[in-house]
Amino acid sequence: MIETIGEQTAQGPKSSPRIIGLLTSGGDCAGLNAVIRAVVTRAIEGYGWRVFGIHQGTMGLLRRPIEFEELDLRVSGAGNLRSAGTILGTTNKGNPFAFPMPDGTRLDRSAEVIAAIHELGIDALIGIGGDGSHAILRRLAQQGGLNFVGIPKTIDNDIGVTETSVGYDTAVMVATEALDRLQPTAASHDRVMILEVMGRDAGHIALAAGIAGGADVILIPEIPYEMDKVAAHIGRLRNRGRNFALVVVAEAVPNLTGQSVWQRQTGGATTYGGIGHILGTVIADLTGAETRVTVLGHVQRGGQPTWNDRLIASAFGVRAVDLVAEGRFDRMVAWQNRRVIDVPLSEAVQAPSRVDREGVLIRTARGLGISFGDI
Ligand code: F6P
Repeated sequence: MIETIGEQTAQGPKSSPRIIGLLTSGGDCAGLNAVIRAVVTRAIEGYGWRVFGIHQGTMGLLRRPIEFEELDLRVSGAGNLRSAGTILGTTNKGNPFAFPMPDGTRLDRSAEVIAAIHELGIDALIGIGGDGSHAILRRLAQQGGLNFVGIPKTIDNDIGVTETSVGYDTAVMVATEALDRLQPTAASHDRVMILEVMGRDAGHIALAAGIAGGADVILIPEIPYEMDKVAAHIGRLRNRGRNFALVVVAEAVPNLTGQSVWQRQTGGATTYGGIGHILGTVIADLTGAETRVTVLGHVQRGGQPTWNDRLIASAFGVRAVDLVAEGRFDRMVAWQNRRVIDVPLSEAVQAPSRVDREGVLIRTARGLGISFGDI
């Protein structure tokens, strides 16, 4: 499955870089440590290189002294294959091109990041991130003449050109398990259960978990819904003798007036959240059913990575190091047609992937009688 890379000695080709910088960037997810483990193992065991793990994404490169640690084969221990989070730390704030300053202004601090990479003597940088992180890291690489390879991760699975990203499978598993747990209590109390899941602007988690977890209604930002249609569907289920219903709603689904539902977090950041409660009240009003709402939130980002996330993480990590060995930069590893490949980063950051409204999963869901609130 993984292509071999031709002639290498234990120390790697003569012209190969000797120090790899490695960072995780953006929101964490399950499987990041498995990627780190794979990169470190391949780089040290396969090529005899050194790996510098940078702390908290590009934040570690903005601090002085620079915050990093040399990673050794202890990282290859079995624990990292199985654990969630990232041993390097990460951030989804602090874009170095528009760094938020205490006085509310934004400052371009990209030169500091580039200087830190040069100061550490890093020959090639491997960044594990989502589309936003990849765009930033690519820009840094272009500006600083850095050798960069990207590895896709995000529970949202919204990076174009890769069928899946590290963390997505585990998030779907967690959301599916939540539905498994909600169904018996829904049936015991004659209730409609609403499960709000993450996914930023894409409905991939909601769609996949909704099918796998036996949802009756799936609401995603890609398909406009009408509450009357949702209520009618629940009514039909009731007429057929069903005493409960499961509704999955993606966090980016707009409210009844078409507005996104946001929460303001400390520090000024805004995140999606709250649509589940809004819809729960409306469903109760329209159907007379008792409703309860579960907002799954960051639970989806933790837990043991599934076998699939571990496998993809491992394949991505090895392939990324091999790309460095081949001197092929400005590329991202990707999963397509049951194998790991690599694609130009320019393609990867071009357009986020949204649910295909005519795609096979939508057709499957419709075939199962699941309502999207549109017909
Ligand atoms: O992009 C991953 C993600 O978990 C989204 O699904 C969610 O909208 C967002 O990050 C939450 O961000 P934060 O960790 O800042 O709350």
